[in-house]
Amino acid sequence: PAPKPGDLLALAVTTARAAADLVRERAAGVVEVAATKSTATDVVTEADRDTEALIRRLISEQRPDDGFFGEEGASDGETTAGTSGVRWIVDPIDGTVNFLYGLPRYAVSIAAEYAGEVVAGAVVDVPAGTLYAAFRQPDGSAAAVKDGEPVAVRQPADLSQRLIATGFSYDASLRRIQAEALVRFIPVVRDVRRIGSAALDICSVADGSLDGYLEEGLHLWDHAAACLVAEAAGARWEATTGVGGRRFVVVAPDHGYDELRKAAVQAGFLPVDSLPGV
Ligand code: IPD
Repeated sequence: PAPKPGDLLALAVTTARAAADLVRERAAGVVEVAATKSTATDVVTEADRDTEALIRRLISEQRPDDGFFGEEGASDGETTAGTSGVRWIVDPIDGTVNFLYGLPRYAVSIAAEYAGEVVAGAVVDVPAGTLYAAFRQPDGSAAAVKDGEPVAVRQPADLSQRLIATGFSYDASLRRIQAEALVRFIPVVRDVRRIGSAALDICSVADGSLDGYLEEGLHLWDHAAACLVAEAAGARWEATTGVGGRRFVVVAPDHGYDELRKAAVQAGFLPVDSLPGV
């Protein structure tokens, strides 16, 4: 039988809270890089690994037949398929570099996907202790809350008045493209933030503290839970598979979305020929 999105969300929330407690505990001690991944700037700490292991254990105790796709497991080939049709998409610490430096902007992100669609998502802002949660009903309707209160996007202003967050890939050639695109993009918006946690950036679009977010080079675990929160709060989002299979993610209030996306493509955040329909 199809799982109830509310049940999946309840498990996502209790697990994300337990994981956030562990991350908070580790943040109080000395944090060191355990390894580098795709490039020298792509780091993993023991806290990332231990937190992902905790999340995996807590979820599989309740739902042993579900699949699992986690940031740290993925690079070790530990992703499991499962047999229930539910797959958990997990980023134990989104904003690892902030965590490493003690900058208070990092999160635990847990999403549950059923039949290929994200139906529940929890994002815990660890230093602030804030919980963003959302679920989608089988009829397609979705609801999102921040610490139990409904969230809604900000009304979009003129492009020149919008505060947009972005991020930079760990890949050197993509970083160059992003830097060059910024030269053309910054003059057309109010300003650009590089806060360092895609999940929290997207949740900030959901609660109206940012006007939009875009980044090329994301992985599914960075945005899966947060995009459901943003969608339920009135944002539109897309994750287009671009160069080398990397995801170009744009999130913004529904009205005004097209204008932002067009400006991003014109600035060169993604080569036009790799985007369908541009
Ligand atoms: C990163 C953060 C960052 C974004 C990177 C992500 P991680 O996730 O979300 O803001 O710019 O693209 O990889 O590595 O800290 O989980």
